[in-house]
Amino acid sequence: MSVPGAPKVRTCVGDCLDVLHDMEPESVDLAYVDPPFFTQKIHRLNTRDGSATFSFRDIWGSDHSYSDFIYQRIRRTRTVLKSSGSLFFHCDKAASHIIRLLLDSIFGPEQFRSEIIWSFRRWSNAKKGLLPAHQTIFFYSKTDNFKFNTFYQEYSPSTNIDQIMQKRIRDSRNKTVYARNEKGEVVGNGIKKGVPLSDVWEIPFLNPKAKERVGFPTQKPVLLMKRIVELVTDEGDWILDPFCGSGTTLVTSKLLNRNSIGIDISEEAVELTKRRLEAPLFTESPLAQRGRESYRRHESYAATYLFGVAYTPVHRNTGIDGLLKEEVAGLPVFVRVQREGESVSQAVSALRKAARNKGDCRLVVIATHADLFDSGRFADVDVIPSTAFALNEYIKKRRPSTQRPPRTGDEGLISRGQKPNSKGA
Ligand SMILES: C[S@@+](CC[C@H](N)C(=O)[O-])C[C@H]1O[C@@H](n2cnc3c(N)ncnc32)[C@H](O)[C@@H]1O
Repeated sequence: MSVPGAPKVRTCVGDCLDVLHDMEPESVDLAYVDPPFFTQKIHRLNTRDGSATFSFRDIWGSDHSYSDFIYQRIRRTRTVLKSSGSLFFHCDKAASHIIRLLLDSIFGPEQFRSEIIWSFRRWSNAKKGLLPAHQTIFFYSKTDNFKFNTFYQEYSPSTNIDQIMQKRIRDSRNKTVYARNEKGEVVGNGIKKGVPLSDVWEIPFLNPKAKERVGFPTQKPVLLMKRIVELVTDEGDWILDPFCGSGTTLVTSKLLNRNSIGIDISEEAVELTKRRLEAPLFTESPLAQRGRESYRRHESYAATYLFGVAYTPVHRNTGIDGLLKEEVAGLPVFVRVQREGESVSQAVSALRKAARNKGDCRLVVIATHADLFDSGRFADVDVIPSTAFALNEYIKKRRPSTQRPPRTGDEGLISRGQKPNSKGA
């Protein structure tokens, strides 16, 4: 659904219990709840320039008083959720055991969807015991008919092509095996988009120099909120944060074209939220970027030639470099990039051999150099010249016979005998 105009944002100062009572029932699509965690501390932090200090109190008489506080507010939060809505409750080891039981009693255990582990790296002085490096986010839906947008993550480099492609069935002993047709060939299962997103999320903690950091204690990263928001809402939906602190949920909602309501008992927190909303900032994760880079490096040579193509890299297979994300004429397409020192016929043979037991499919070789290129000989394999190859041929054809060719590589193109650089770029 697209939203006409800018997303709407409402902020309120007060105890969220009172504000929630005044809200219309069944009016929000997502509630993200990030309350005090039962740490028995006062959380305090200065802004980077030292001009302000933000704090909130997280000290309780007993675990009963904490659970009663949470219970009342979450019961009311459930009321304002639409029947297709979801709640994400953020907590850590201090009270996760209490929260899970409370949420079960409010939503019903059957509405429990996931226990998300937000995992991050932390540098800290050694102390006796394990370094805490995760927090927990409980995901509950109001009903079975909840909104959910499926996301996929790439296969890990250790996944082989058979795991990606082949249909699996259970044999007579109830063991999972690859399905085969009457000729004994394995049967494909269509193109898969990747692995469905798991419940362990590696998203970096905000580092002290992150642009989006505003000096609020326990401020959450926009990147984390982005994932939650995109998972269970669409543009134009309403998102509620009853403990909004510095307003990360509202900033994320605005950036993603969702409407939002933020409540906090601290007037200073709500003022800070309003200021953040004037110029919403989002820090691209260097870790996510590094991850993508190392992934690209892993694909190396083939990636140089397949850049811009929607494909799944195939690791651990010497004959196939990639599987196109889209089928062609109802068949999966395997691709091999012709290697340096390899003729097109050798590339074709290697690809044919690798695809022999993969069932019905189409095969494509990307020819990267000219000398042995002869597409006419391969009825079962399509041979497509790479851009660099085609362009070099184009230049060659139009070069006056008296002109000497420049040294290979000067043109920024990859030609025979020139290795792509180590970044695969
Ligand atoms: C863990 S912080 C939220 C941090 C926030 N997610 C962010 O990214 O900045 C918890 C917040 O709950 C607020 N709070 C505590 N009791 C409250 C209540 N009864 N109603 C509303 N807000 C409350 C605190 O003032 C604090 O800002």
